[in-house]
Amino acid sequence: MRDFSPNSWEGRADAHSFYGFTDLPTVHERGTVVVTHGTGPYIHDVHGRSYLDANSGLWNMVAGFDHPGLIAAAQEQYARFPGYHSFFGRMSDQTVMLSEKLVEVSPFASGKVFYTNSGSEANDTMVKMLWFLWASEGQPQRRKILTRVNAYHGVTAVSASMTGKPYNSVFGLPLPGFIHLTCPHYWRNGQAGETEAQFTARMANELEATIIKEGPETIAGFFAEPVMGAGGVIPPSEGYFQAVVPVLRKYGIPVISDEVITGFGRTGNTWGCETYGFIPDAIISSKNLTAGFFPMGAVILGPDLAERMQAAAEKIEEFPHGFTASGHPVGCAIALKAIDVVMNEGLAENVTALTPKFEGGLARLAQKANIGEWRGKGFMGALEAVADKATKTPFAPEVSVSERIANACTDQGLICRPLGQSIVLAPPFIMTEAHLDEMFEKLELALDKVFAELA
Ligand SMILES: Cc1ncc(COP(=O)(O)O)c(C=O)c1O
Repeated sequence: MRDFSPNSWEGRADAHSFYGFTDLPTVHERGTVVVTHGTGPYIHDVHGRSYLDANSGLWNMVAGFDHPGLIAAAQEQYARFPGYHSFFGRMSDQTVMLSEKLVEVSPFASGKVFYTNSGSEANDTMVKMLWFLWASEGQPQRRKILTRVNAYHGVTAVSASMTGKPYNSVFGLPLPGFIHLTCPHYWRNGQAGETEAQFTARMANELEATIIKEGPETIAGFFAEPVMGAGGVIPPSEGYFQAVVPVLRKYGIPVISDEVITGFGRTGNTWGCETYGFIPDAIISSKNLTAGFFPMGAVILGPDLAERMQAAAEKIEEFPHGFTASGHPVGCAIALKAIDVVMNEGLAENVTALTPKFEGGLARLAQKANIGEWRGKGFMGALEAVADKATKTPFAPEVSVSERIANACTDQGLICRPLGQSIVLAPPFIMTEAHLDEMFEKLELALDKVFAELA
């Protein structure tokens, strides 16, 4: 533990900020990186050091940290109308326009949008919508929620219950009625001799057996990220959604695509469900929705759920739910601009053009003796460290292998994210070939250093 002076930024951060999702031994030893500003894909700290942020902040700053158009959109809207709500039959013009735009760019022919401040709240809202809907339609017992082990859907009590991570047990979560199916990660969860197609079929069989065991009449909905993000960037096994969606349809279970990370271009298409060829009943959006320039989440209901929700709300004359800042005019103005920037300023095309280079870099580093697997889709990727490549044996948890690699990257001026035993990369969509070269060079130096220390 280092003794940072009480007047230093590190000491001041420690004294009065309570950290979440932060490895405390690491901050005690290394100090918090206190960031003052960003330029393009770089962030700069109070000591004048610069870091290439290969995680786009928290997946969301896809247009970089100083996009002039997004800054102008925020400034103009703050000058015009700096805040309002969406209650009691009032909402801002920006909110009206954003809902139209979101339905237009969604995979749905028609639909309706409800706004929150975050992805967690959007997932919570969706669960409350399903509970409200089923009760209104005479099936109040339909309350169970199906998700997957390793899924990340947020931190509020309900979205943390949907999240399939062991750390939530410290809160006594999940709440009852949240059921976690097997994570569709073939490399890690495939059985000896099982082909990928057999593995996918096993996932669909497990889903159907679970539905039958629990009782289809008790299940409210199924939530899935098209590619698991905070689970360590795990694309589904081949044919997964084609196998599970028909099972869910057979039992009338709504399919919710949590696109908080995958929405707006991350996987190379506007939506992850597009990348994986399925149409959900609703989409959860956040993060890229405002390119990270404003905290905002959205539930985008497809035609069936929009119509049924409307009917359920009409019955009791309102949907009794909402946040003070739901549909905030500044957030909506920024989101309208962010969608335009990603779709019309060449960012989506850049992801498509540079994905082969990104994947090539991951594949090259995966040849190292201590990398078991590379995986990814579009501009999200991961390298999973292993102590033994042949047996896929992980490093002992106390080695904190990914934390060490991420710290070695920070020393090189590169931000990447340790997740389990994986290193996760989610570059901003403005990254150039030169940025990708810089990212992989720095990451390789860090990997070589850490694996040499552990040899
Ligand atoms: C897929 C997914 N859903 C939901 C969330 C929660 O979003 P927020 O942190 O905005 O509450 C996240 C956050 O990373 C996420 O990755």
